[in-house]
Amino acid sequence: MSNAPSDSGFRRLAGMADLLPEESAQWVRLEGTVRDVMRRFGFGEIRVPIMEPTELFQRGTGESTDIVQKEMYTFTDRGDRSVTLRPEGTPSVVRAYLEESLGAKRPTWKFFYFGPMFRAERPQQGRLRQFHQIGAEMIGPASPEADVELIALAQAMIQEIGVPDPELVINSIGGPATRADHNAALRAFLTSPDVYKALDGDCKRRVETNPLRVFDCKNENCQRILIDAPSIGRFLTADDRAHFDSVLRGLEQLKIAYTIDRRLVRGLDYYTRTTFEFKSKRLGAQDAVCGGGRYDGLIEILGGPPTPAVGFAAGVERLIAAIAGEDRPAGKRLDVFVCALGEKASCQTTNVLAALRSLGLSADRDFLGRGLKAQMKEADRMAARAVIIIGDDEIAKGKYTLRLMDKAEQKDIAADSGQWTREMFL
Ligand code: HAM
Repeated sequence: MSNAPSDSGFRRLAGMADLLPEESAQWVRLEGTVRDVMRRFGFGEIRVPIMEPTELFQRGTGESTDIVQKEMYTFTDRGDRSVTLRPEGTPSVVRAYLEESLGAKRPTWKFFYFGPMFRAERPQQGRLRQFHQIGAEMIGPASPEADVELIALAQAMIQEIGVPDPELVINSIGGPATRADHNAALRAFLTSPDVYKALDGDCKRRVETNPLRVFDCKNENCQRILIDAPSIGRFLTADDRAHFDSVLRGLEQLKIAYTIDRRLVRGLDYYTRTTFEFKSKRLGAQDAVCGGGRYDGLIEILGGPPTPAVGFAAGVERLIAAIAGEDRPAGKRLDVFVCALGEKASCQTTNVLAALRSLGLSADRDFLGRGLKAQMKEADRMAARAVIIIGDDEIAKGKYTLRLMDKAEQKDIAADSGQWTREMFL
């Protein structure tokens, strides 16, 4: 037996992370906070598969997006079907909503979900290939109050998780009429000879497929050119403008501070009207902890009746990074550590652990047959509240030694676990 670190030579895939017990404990706390917020806002959990037919994302997330163009984990399964590891949750939720005919059961559905998402992006700080999202979707209502409700939900969640100073940025990209006018003006701008020749290859392609997507470009040169591009705000129809104004008024009523960013078009094709993001200054270049918006056309695109919807998703890894140093977990302690000295004691310890655990206590032992000193050290490492010592003497007397560590007290307890209560050990 050796304690030397061993290395199998296997490495996890780039952009994918392991979550060790201390970290996963932090995730569980975060999930608990989120579940409580979701409950108060009346959102119910939906669990959908992590793999879907590729076409769901091609049509849902959108052919012209970077996600569909270059970031999906797509492969052919054994039945020769093209399947994709989900890059986001929204198309799956809509698929489930349609597949289960939920719209016929009641007019408004409020879902939330947790889970892994997959995007083959270039890994960097805050950008993984397997990452996790907490998402919320409200399907049914078209009213600006629904947009405000979703933003208020995201804000409450981010605040209760403890992200310091999140900043909300918001925009409206309008509906189909607004977009058609804006698209024409944007295409005219992008195809003017001086501008067009300065664009990179991806943006030239975007001019053809969906000019709005040029705003997703990460190339600094393109971004400089786009400063003079026609902004969508000027093209909003009266209805789109009224909707946006109502959303802003609702936020003001709730005293949720925001900044309007006319360039916030978000990298997915389904958005209509409101788009928003929460950013954290504590993160680097990838500063969006949460993004979302209205998507009134998606349900129809995926084969359903025209149905408005609004939602968001937050990146769990980014939320965790944003609260680094802020999250003070209550010390994780073991209730009872059982020290066994000798073979007979070791054998009895199996039942002792079972009895303690059935009382609802956390209980552990040493499995290496080590001496008392090493076992007490282990109990100390686990911050045990109580230690039971079982040796030959104890077995002969029919009594075990119990040490209550915080009270620095030691006493005998009956070996018969039928006489034990939880309180004896706390
Ligand atoms: P998204 O902006 O693509 O939106 O992703 C939402 C959040 O997921 C981001 O703000 C970020 O925190 C996190 N995220 C995205 N990509 C990565 C990555 N590669 N590594 C780490 N974190 C990442 C959506 O996915 C939409 N489905 C949101 C939505 C729901 N809109 C309406 N309903």
